[in-house]
Amino acid sequence: QDLFAPRRNSAGIEFGDRRAVASLVAERRRIRVAGLRARCAADAAQTAGAAHQVEIRSPVDGAVLGESHHLSAEAAHALVFEAARHCRAAEAVSAVRRAEMLRKAAGLMEERQSDLLAILSAEAGKTLDDAIAEIREAVDFLRFYADEAVRLFAAPVNLPGPTGEENRLAYRSRGVAVAISPWNFPLAIFTGQVAAALAAGNVVIAKPAEQTPLIAARAVEILHEAGFLRQHLYLAPGDGRTGAALTAHPQTALVAFTGSTETAFAINRALASRDAPIAPLIAETGGINAMIADATALPEQVADDVVMSAFRSAGQRCSALRLLFLQEDVADRILEMIAGAAKELTIGDPRDLATDIGPVIDAEQLAMLRGHVAHMEREQTLRYRGAVEGGLAAKGHYFAPHVVELDRPEALDREVFGPVLHVVRWKAKDFDRMLDAIEATGFGLTLGIHSRINQTAEKVIARLPVGNVYVNRNIIGAIVGSQPFGGSGLSGTGPKAGGPNYLARFAREQVISVNT
Ligand code: NAD
Ligand code: ALA
Repeated sequence: QDLFAPRRNSAGIEFGDRRAVASLVAERRRIRVAGLRARCAADAAQTAGAAHQVEIRSPVDGAVLGESHHLSAEAAHALVFEAARHCRAAEAVSAVRRAEMLRKAAGLMEERQSDLLAILSAEAGKTLDDAIAEIREAVDFLRFYADEAVRLFAAPVNLPGPTGEENRLAYRSRGVAVAISPWNFPLAIFTGQVAAALAAGNVVIAKPAEQTPLIAARAVEILHEAGFLRQHLYLAPGDGRTGAALTAHPQTALVAFTGSTETAFAINRALASRDAPIAPLIAETGGINAMIADATALPEQVADDVVMSAFRSAGQRCSALRLLFLQEDVADRILEMIAGAAKELTIGDPRDLATDIGPVIDAEQLAMLRGHVAHMEREQTLRYRGAVEGGLAAKGHYFAPHVVELDRPEALDREVFGPVLHVVRWKAKDFDRMLDAIEATGFGLTLGIHSRINQTAEKVIARLPVGNVYVNRNIIGAIVGSQPFGGSGLSGTGPKAGGPNYLARFAREQVISVNT
């Protein structure tokens, strides 16, 4: 294999190829997701009381899928200590070898697509197309960071200097990297963080979200099978307490975190209060993501893109649309189209091909969404209320799309993680005030603009500090290498996942100057 050959993103599956889709669905149905286990294999996890067992249930129908052995805070602490002993050996593995192992893991994930699909649907409630997209993204991260490892680490970069002196810049590993991930992309984000940290030669401790440790355990098995040693990559199942212990440890040299802004604050505080070397935090968090549509936009396209951005994946994407600004001349027409399209969506078991929207992740999220809509109904105007059929509601955690019209953008003052779209009307004279309101949220993750006037888009782009801007399209589903993803302000610290500056942040730079 040519290590420097240009990379292609994973092909996934062609949905138009009905035979291929049918055979994948049949294969997936044959796989029974039960009796799975997520546990830490380190010595630190083997002592009495180091872990306690937690049952993992499906949000689809409540079925027991397996168990997670949540690490206690003490065991997590001991795990960092144990991992730190292997940092030198991990760095000694060449970048070319690390890249080979990452590429092998990518191939294994592609081969085991049906198994991964089955777990993603059962554990995270992913529909077939969401699960396929997620596996593709995980595979793309593995290959992208493999290439990046070779580009950055294989040889030092020569720097200019006076005659008689050689200057070189080398990238080195940092040590123990703790990767903490959320439940909403339990394979792609988990794999992306871990792949980057391994590509940079670190020893990695990967803590998945407490709701989705089983798919994470599969990803770790694949990486071990691809060649990464057990003492260079540890799975650390657990909840927030496990994560907090991992980040508080003085030998943790780097934290890569994706999740809520509140948790990012907590980790930042934990790192800052250690009497230890200053460790960087790479945080990717949420957003109150907006889309602006003006009177020149194509209404059908706006409605399609809004429905996709706000409701796909049950709105459980950090990139999802939360706040839609419609220019008043077209607002009623577009609102009607959105309601019409939302009515056509099938809410149901994500394992059925016809399903557009699967369940939300757990009872807590469901209660939060019900409470939010009840509050909005009292204070604002409900424009569309989707319904979940009774039998389905009794089975799992299902919540249908809703559309709420707000009298002012500030009425939405937090990220509501689910299929609830908030709409505000604007008049031409209020254009700048609308941009002020978006900026005032403090978030800066995704933004959509629908307009046929280029200057409008340019003005918005120049004005708002947002990480990913999408013009005349939907605002979800960033592609590795094409749309490096991540925001600023309350949405994260950067750098962007799947972009050219990501891997360097998992490394330490060293400059060598030699008098020749
Ligand atoms: P969360 O913050 O509750 O949990 C994320 C992870 O942090 C979990 O593994 C959790 O166990 C761990 N954790 C909790 N408390 C901790 C602590 N004190 N110290 C260390 N770790 C701790 O988030 P969630 O509910 O799992 O995920 C949803 C959130 O993630 C949303 O806000 C969403 O916008 C965000 N998200 C962001 C991106 C992005 O790329 N920007 C992608 C996906 C999700
Ligand atoms: N990267 C994911 C998206 O763009 C979160 O939807």
